[in-house]
Amino acid sequence: MDNFTYHNPTRLIFGQGQLESLKEEIPADARRVLLIYGGGSIKRNGLYDQVVSLLQQTGKEVYELAGVEPNPRLSTVHRGVQLCRDHQIDFLLAVGGGSVIDCTKAIAVGAFYDGDVWEIIAKRDVASGALPFGTVLTLAATGSEMNPGSVITNWEAQEKLGWGSPFTYPRFSILDPAHTLTVPRDQTVYGAVDIMSHALEQYFHRSPNTPLVERFTESILTTVIETTPKLVDDLENLELRETILYAGTMALNGTLSMGTRGDWSTHRIEHAVSAVYDIPHGGGLAILFPQWIRHTALHDPSKAKQLAVNVFGVDPSGKTDHAVAAEGVERLRAFWDSLGAPNRLADYDIDDSQLERMVDQTMLGAESFGRYQTLTREDVTAILRASL
Ligand code: NZQ
Ligand code: ZN
Repeated sequence: MDNFTYHNPTRLIFGQGQLESLKEEIPADARRVLLIYGGGSIKRNGLYDQVVSLLQQTGKEVYELAGVEPNPRLSTVHRGVQLCRDHQIDFLLAVGGGSVIDCTKAIAVGAFYDGDVWEIIAKRDVASGALPFGTVLTLAATGSEMNPGSVITNWEAQEKLGWGSPFTYPRFSILDPAHTLTVPRDQTVYGAVDIMSHALEQYFHRSPNTPLVERFTESILTTVIETTPKLVDDLENLELRETILYAGTMALNGTLSMGTRGDWSTHRIEHAVSAVYDIPHGGGLAILFPQWIRHTALHDPSKAKQLAVNVFGVDPSGKTDHAVAAEGVERLRAFWDSLGAPNRLADYDIDDSQLERMVDQTMLGAESFGRYQTLTREDVTAILRASL
């Protein structure tokens, strides 16, 4: 195992009826709260009214930033920072999916920073603090509720960048599976693909002697594989929602990287695709991940073989490692196909006209990247071409 230090300061509050704890979790001396949410799903399912009522019961002055878009944009972050300045906001409350939470993290840091927060997101400067914030999660996918990461799109520059800081862990996150019952089928599938992709990114590593973390990762993958097909046919099943919600948090709260360093190349490529085409993150991953495994297994099939055998139940007897690895990728592809996840970039009407642009946005000036397997410009081009 690699050496590691683990510290996760987010208080995770999980289960039905836990929304009430908002009253204790937001500090009493935080008088002015900025409520941040997306395009209106929380208004339609009643969560907005419940949250506002709880905030009012504790005497908070509530301000609002509505309309955070999926793949949240820098322009929305700027609007939020301005609201914080105009109203001397003390505390931010994100109510939504990963996009709302990621936007809130950028606002929290931006409100504490004299310059443009893009300088921090683009890693030209570092955060020195942030407004405190908490979250009420409504969609199982990103793990943003219990990690310091955030992904923001600068649409004008066609850049979508991941960043984070020690100040961007939520103070608390409230996860009630009932808040996820209204997530539509397609977003439920994207969420499952994202959760599995987080497990896969961390599974593909080269740190020695990591049997426990490998089993943790395989158990998250098998749990999502068992649960999601039932859930997409029974979207209001609370127990299935509960299972997926817990899996989503555990897949990206640092647990699966204890003693290892995952690859993360597929996320990098997907962010470049959605920077140019604004497609759903989970949809992009469903297209790209099998292609990344295929491409890297040509060179070294060992981990893809382990995935095939331990997660997809491929019988390796009498087969070459390459053949077992290939069968595993086919099973992953078939599983995502069975859920109706996108299969090719053409499903989003993406052709090769902006291929170079996507490759540029992936490389971001680097010669190569990828911890499990190094990818050059040629590799990225090949993976994207195979995905068309
Ligand atoms: O905007 P509203 O109206 O709320 O609707 C949203 C949105 O349209 C809807 N939704 C959310 N909860 C719902 C619901 N609809 C009905 N009922 C509910 N309870 O779902 C749509 C998608 O929401 P979004 O927040 O965009 O999805 P997700 O959680 O998948 O977040 C995606 C973003 O997170 C980034 C992605 O790149 C993308 O920008 N990521 C963040 C990570 C992190 N911070 O650690 C890691 C990830 O790998 C990922 O890159
Ligand atoms: Zn992801």
